[in-house]
Amino acid sequence: MTGVPIADPDLSETAHDRVQSVLESGQLAAGPEVETFEGGFAAYCGADYGVATANGTTALHTALEAVGLEDGDAVVTTPFSFVASANAIRLAGGTPVFADIDPETYALDPDAVREVLADREDVVGVLPVHLYGLPAPMAELLEIADAHDLFVVEDACQAHGAEVGGERVGSLGDAACFSFYPTKNATTGEGGMITTDREDVARRARQYVNHGRDTTGERGYDHVALGHNYRMTNLAAAIGVSQLERLPAFNRARRKNAAHYDEAFEDLPLETPTVPRGYRHVYHQYTIRTEDREALRASLDDRGVGSAIYYPTPIHRQPAYETLSTAAAELPRAERAAEDVLSVPVHPTLTDGDRRTVVEAVTDHYRR
Ligand SMILES: Cc1ncc(COP(=O)(O)O)c(C=O)c1O
Repeated sequence: MTGVPIADPDLSETAHDRVQSVLESGQLAAGPEVETFEGGFAAYCGADYGVATANGTTALHTALEAVGLEDGDAVVTTPFSFVASANAIRLAGGTPVFADIDPETYALDPDAVREVLADREDVVGVLPVHLYGLPAPMAELLEIADAHDLFVVEDACQAHGAEVGGERVGSLGDAACFSFYPTKNATTGEGGMITTDREDVARRARQYVNHGRDTTGERGYDHVALGHNYRMTNLAAAIGVSQLERLPAFNRARRKNAAHYDEAFEDLPLETPTVPRGYRHVYHQYTIRTEDREALRASLDDRGVGSAIYYPTPIHRQPAYETLSTAAAELPRAERAAEDVLSVPVHPTLTDGDRRTVVEAVTDHYRR
């Protein structure tokens, strides 16, 4: 058992009470908590519609279907993310085309996206990832998308509440997708959400997660398109509603922990996270960068401090991507980041003592 774990979901009494009520109601699958969560989460993001899903991966797959991705279409995305970002493109019948990252922010580099677009004519969309809780450079990416008539689906699975230019992620592209996995800034156990301002995208997404069913018709059993069962349960949504109430406080705590580390690590031979002007990072992860990663990780482990590598293998180097011709690309900045990054505990339940333990473990490693 680690002394300071890398993640620690915080479920209040309120969550227990809401779940208990759902259990007593017997409405375990679809139900009012799902609708409350959808409306509340969309409003939190500044988006008009929310469609809840079974997890973040199904949210991404559904959003891509809902914006009209067709078999064989190419979508530009980052190689430096969880594999689900690119898997969703493949699940929807598309081809992920990888563009390299900005080595400072780890986000999709707009210049690299432009290079891909100069090379290919089959690109229909861009899927940026707000990695670790820092928004991707949305203004530039949206400008590129506008100029080339591309859709933008934000992978906001790690960035609940992050902002850029005063606007929350989830309200910037044609659609955005969130995950509520237990390590995330808000959880429902397993769960996901699509947010969008587009009525047509919301309608298609709502149908897609429910076997293409059009519930607005008279009979209620008209299946107007192909779909899946990707629905969120009322039980999960009950947890989500209570987490949403606490999300602003969770994010404040994460940001406070991060500011503490920024200062404590200032003089050490490692890189702390870069936050460009006008960006509000919500520190799903506090990720440092050091050539000395494996030794630092061992020192942290000795002190009972959890750490994790997100991600040790860029997506285009994953075995499941070997057969994809676009995975043959050389993407040196993503490949380098995969060798150097290390995340340390930044979650909201860290005590002052936990933070001290983390800081001492990192500092002592370099001062030894
Ligand atoms: C960037 C990113 N995209 C997609 C996902 C997929 O979400 P889920 O695990 O809820 O399916 C995750 C979650 O781990 C993620 O971090």
